[in-house]
Amino acid sequence: MSKIITVTNQKGGVGKTTTCNALISCLSSMGNKVLGIDLDPQGSLGFSLGLDIESGFTIYDVLKGNVTAKEALRSIDCGDFIASNILLSTAELEFNRSGREFLLRDAINDIKDNYDFIIIDTPPALNILTVNAYVAADSLIVPMVPEILSLLGISQIKETIDSVKKFFNPSLEVSCILLTKYNKRMMLTKEVEEMAGQIADQLGTIVVSTKIRSSVAVAEAPAHGQGILSYAPKANASIDYSAFAKMVYLGRFK
Ligand SMILES: Nc1ncnc2c1ncn2[C@@H]1O[C@H](COP(=O)(O)OP(=O)(O)OP(=O)(O)O)[C@@H](O)[C@H]1O
Ligand SMILES: [Mg+2]
Repeated sequence: MSKIITVTNQKGGVGKTTTCNALISCLSSMGNKVLGIDLDPQGSLGFSLGLDIESGFTIYDVLKGNVTAKEALRSIDCGDFIASNILLSTAELEFNRSGREFLLRDAINDIKDNYDFIIIDTPPALNILTVNAYVAADSLIVPMVPEILSLLGISQIKETIDSVKKFFNPSLEVSCILLTKYNKRMMLTKEVEEMAGQIADQLGTIVVSTKIRSSVAVAEAPAHGQGILSYAPKANASIDYSAFAKMVYLGRFK
């Protein structure tokens, strides 16, 4: 049975795409069959994996019902992938029929058991795409930057998670909050640490003990069409992501 994980935070630039990229490559190098799905119209995950996202079928075609998920699969070094691009930005207007929350879940139903892990990247928003990613998922990982401003405004994501659980996917879990772009010199202030803990409480989850340190290589890797793990395996962020991927593999975040 596959484990379907959505990486989400409505705040931009908190490391969602980087986390997806790292999980896809780490879980695959551990011998798992992995499918990555990009639900962000920015298309960054596909781009960062070295794909040409402007050509070929995308998740937009799949959600529209023009092609099956199987037909939209692309083979990458770390498994399979369904790309996204800017065409997906009309989703909110176009996907307006009843049952629109289930488009992704239904679309991957036929192929999901071919994989050990399915990793879904989401846009910095709470919209119909995010809801589709929550409805299709078993669990959520919420990356956050450990800065006070970045931690504010969590009530909206909580409302979205709660309503998806109530109406569409009662078994959805929040696996953890993952602190990213962590810098030791910055020192986690007591306030930030407490606030992250409070947010975790509100979301019924924990702040995972593994933090992802800042590494310059993270910003460089996409330009080489490579994941951070293959581009700079010895970078701090790669070491941290490997440790985190093991936790994801084991389903244990403490
Ligand atoms: N551990 C890290 N160390 C250094 N830079 C990082 C780290 N993680 C992410 N970044 C950088 O921060 C920026 C945002 O990261 P990323 O694209 O993963 O965030 P995101 O949450 O997916 O953003 P968006 O909301 O726009 O989709 C990128 O330039 C990325 O290279
Ligand atoms: Mg992103």
